[in-house]
Amino acid sequence: MKKLLVLGASSSRESINRVFARFAAEQVSGVHLVEVDLSQLNLPLFSVDLERSDGIPPEARDFYATIAGCDALVVSLAEHNGSYTAAFKNLFDWTSRHESKVWADKPMLLLSTSPGGRGGASVMAAALQTFPHLGGKIIAHFSLPSFGDNFQPGQGITDPALKEAFDAQVALFQAAVSA
Ligand SMILES: Cc1cc2nc3c(=O)[nH]c(=O)nc-3n(C[C@H](O)[C@H](O)[C@H](O)COP(=O)(O)O)c2cc1C
Repeated sequence: MKKLLVLGASSSRESINRVFARFAAEQVSGVHLVEVDLSQLNLPLFSVDLERSDGIPPEARDFYATIAGCDALVVSLAEHNGSYTAAFKNLFDWTSRHESKVWADKPMLLLSTSPGGRGGASVMAAALQTFPHLGGKIIAHFSLPSFGDNFQPGQGITDPALKEAFDAQVALFQAAVSA
């Protein structure tokens, strides 16, 4: 069975992006889910000095090995002040020092959500622009606005138009995963 990496790009133990990434991954058939929980990672803050003195932390090497060992990726981005969370950026920066193609050319379903009406549109725009230069093969993408209003645990996306748009992106991703 193919392996699907699931990542909520937030260190929050209550991360809505972790919930959303898992929900999206559960819509994909014929895959085994491999979850990475950023709240359990204890990485030092990246600096070139620390890299020089101590090398790349094993957690970053392990993260890349997990990506490389999966067939496809579901990543949901949390947005802090219009950009990536510090925890995700830190993991990403460390990992890019181990392997510049962090996403290892694996098919990716890229998501974002937030309690606000833009659903993380700014961080999504940043990732759409930069991930392809970092081994990101983005097959489909979707931002879910106002998570608290539009998502119900056990039910999923409640707004019909948003659900239709999300389902269309999942279908694109499913086709790539199954190919
Ligand atoms: C420091 C900080 C900055 C934030 N900036 C934004 C923002 O720019 N846009 C947004 O939609 N939400 C913003 N939020 C709200 C987050 O979207 C919200 O906390 C969300 O739950 C984060 O996703 P997560 O639960 O997956 O960590 C911010 C929250 C924090 C703590």
